[in-house]
Amino acid sequence: MRYADITGWGKCAPPAILTNDDLSTILDTDDEWIVSRTGMKERRIAHVPVSDLAHVACARALAAAGKSAADVDLIIFGSCTFDQLVPNSASRVQQLLGADNAACMDLNTACTSGMYALSVATAMIKSGSMENALVIGAEVTSVLMDWSDRDVAILFGDGAAAFFLEASDEKSGVVAESLGCFGKNRDILDVTGWGLKYANQGLMLGDTKWNFNGQEIFKRAVVGMSRACDTVLEKAGIAKEEIDLVVPHQANLRIIDALAKRMGASEEKVYINIQRYGNMSAATAPLALVEALEEGRVAPGDKLLLPAFGGGLTWSAHLLNWGARIKPLGTTDVDLPPCDKTGLQLVRDIIAAKKTVKG
Ligand SMILES: CC(C)(COP(=O)(O)OP(=O)(O)OC[C@H]1O[C@@H](n2cnc3c(N)ncnc32)[C@H](O)[C@@H]1OP(=O)(O)O)[C@@H](O)C(=O)NCCC(=O)NCCS
Repeated sequence: MRYADITGWGKCAPPAILTNDDLSTILDTDDEWIVSRTGMKERRIAHVPVSDLAHVACARALAAAGKSAADVDLIIFGSCTFDQLVPNSASRVQQLLGADNAACMDLNTACTSGMYALSVATAMIKSGSMENALVIGAEVTSVLMDWSDRDVAILFGDGAAAFFLEASDEKSGVVAESLGCFGKNRDILDVTGWGLKYANQGLMLGDTKWNFNGQEIFKRAVVGMSRACDTVLEKAGIAKEEIDLVVPHQANLRIIDALAKRMGASEEKVYINIQRYGNMSAATAPLALVEALEEGRVAPGDKLLLPAFGGGLTWSAHLLNWGARIKPLGTTDVDLPPCDKTGLQLVRDIIAAKKTVKG
């Protein structure tokens, strides 16, 4: 049987940091509230478009896999903050990499986009239609944030991660998954001004209002992810105790704690980096897995469980059998251009730009 092993990985966290104290200079909030309610201490703000973050993450993933851009068959870009719709953003990554032989597609399921992209790429490799793929989870929500709304503005950050997948005869990569959506509840995470329907209503694209019922999303996130995890374990025929590491979507530390409790997973079996990045939407679970590898938390043959949740309300869980490679084969000089601004300065620039356009 054919599988899709993950042989390369890379992340791109933009350098500018926005702390909770920074947020308290523009919103009625404070570090104590944010840490106690979410577990977040800081997040990153991008000084470049999402495609540029994705490009760097992909270059690093290719170097880790020991591959060149010309080897790539397919690029799937998971995000909901594409800098362009036509042409698509995967083609921009192809152009920046010089991956001229790759098919290119964009995929949007909000925060789960990187994980859904992993499913699509795995299925295409397993079916034989592709030999390999670059899978991206990347997001720049900062430009679409309503920076006057303390309910949501504290929660999100920017970032990107990518994986290189290759056909393999070994039972590795995604071995079971569960994907779904609570479409009936889609209105509890709805962003006005983010999509073409709003252009017809005379709203400026990007001038957003987040209709966001945090407590209801919280409940459905816990239910959606824990059910998906149960389904995946059942499909794979393994017990909870056999999972070596849970790498969950990081929307709120209390959501992760509730999920871990339901899974019976001890603290050391759950990877958490929410304190450094907040919720990077599509980039969140992929970047957490990259950091788990970098920190030596993954061993060859480990069973990894990756539950995720997002707008839609989409949910997912993936069971991965990690393959043999846990150290990158190589590195790259590809990097972002330098950033001479702080996270707070970048946010103030976004706020000012929106005011200028609105007049
Ligand atoms: C958003 C979230 C952190 C709010 O936490 P919560 O414990 O439910 O907090 P509440 O909404 O009940 O608000 C409690 C109080 O804090 C206030 N508050 C809200 N945001 C605040 C902030 N940033 N700073 C200070 N106070 C804040 C509220 O106004 C409310 O005040 P009140 O009691 O006087 O009305 C939490 O519900 C959550 O994480 N939800 C899911 C996250 C999510 O949807 N992520 C995206 C999808 S993956």
